[in-house]
Amino acid sequence: MIVITGATGHVGRELVGMLAARGERVRALVRSPERATGLPEGVEHVVGDLEDPATLAAAFDGVDRLFLLVPGIRHEPARHALAAARTAGVRHVVYLSSYAVAADPMPAMGRWHHDREELVRAAGIPATVLRPCGFMSNTLDWLPTLRAGGYVLDPVGPGRAALIDPYDIAAVAAVALDEPGRVGGAAVLTGDQPLTVTEQAAVLAAAAGIEIEIRDVRTPEEAVRFRYPNGAPPALADALVEGLRLMRSDVAGVRTEHVQRILGRAPRSFSDWCERNADVFRTAVQAGRRPR
Ligand SMILES: NC(=O)c1ccc[n+]([C@@H]2O[C@H](COP(=O)([O-])OP(=O)(O)OC[C@H]3O[C@@H](n4cnc5c(N)ncnc54)[C@H](OP(=O)(O)O)[C@@H]3O)[C@@H](O)[C@H]2O)c1
Repeated sequence: MIVITGATGHVGRELVGMLAARGERVRALVRSPERATGLPEGVEHVVGDLEDPATLAAAFDGVDRLFLLVPGIRHEPARHALAAARTAGVRHVVYLSSYAVAADPMPAMGRWHHDREELVRAAGIPATVLRPCGFMSNTLDWLPTLRAGGYVLDPVGPGRAALIDPYDIAAVAAVALDEPGRVGGAAVLTGDQPLTVTEQAAVLAAAAGIEIEIRDVRTPEEAVRFRYPNGAPPALADALVEGLRLMRSDVAGVRTEHVQRILGRAPRSFSDWCERNADVFRTAVQAGRRPR
């Protein structure tokens, strides 16, 4: 039995589908019964919260493998999950970390994941660590401005990112849960097309048949204020500003061959992701054009 945390998110729901299709016994940890709607047939769910250790014993009962995705910046949820995993006798953990752990110097986003990687190692359970770069699904963050006026804010200018499809992260996690040796201890997962925001917008515009205007943002602080109009927790806001500065300076875009090596195929392309998600962007732009 494999327990999946973050089972309703971008990576988790792809992973649940892949493991169920492979005939694995899968248990999704969900925060409310309604969130379990839409899980594939045959997938068990247990209602629990990583913030509340008392809810985890039932989720981990009889489990031998764990896919651990910890949202947010706190470490307690990881501690609780790992304690439950040890009690249950879990024999392998796949932890979803971040490529920021491998950046030099390591930014705050990386340090949070690094500290959680240390918790995973300290738990003494054999583990695989996946360090993905920016997700293609981050493009969904453009929806509010596309809805508001058909534009996208660009805080990174010449910086490029080889965004990865959450589907590919899930595919690597599925391999690691089955055959950890094929992945190794830590894999840095990227797509293979480093693109600027302007280039990403052009790919999306072509796939969805929409027009997208790019608006430069003068400072990373302005971009973060726009994303969190009511204010973000200071530690998160500082980390986002730092992350945007690093993205702006990475004009090459980090790229590795790890997805190709592990899956035996190229990473999925950004245009493929855009085509699969075109409807949601088209709808947003059309909604923005309707008189209010
Ligand atoms: N986005 C990126 O570019 C990027 C890059 C590198 C690493 N990462 C890492 O990837 C992870 C996010 O992955 P994702 O995008 O697939 O996730 P996501 O779509 O943001 O979904 C988060 C998932 O976590 C669940 N969750 C939230 N709080 C929880 C709690 N207290 N207890 C149990 N479950 C909880 C949510 O459940 P509900 O359905 O109840 O909300 C949801 O299933 C983060 O750890 C992030 O640091 C992201």
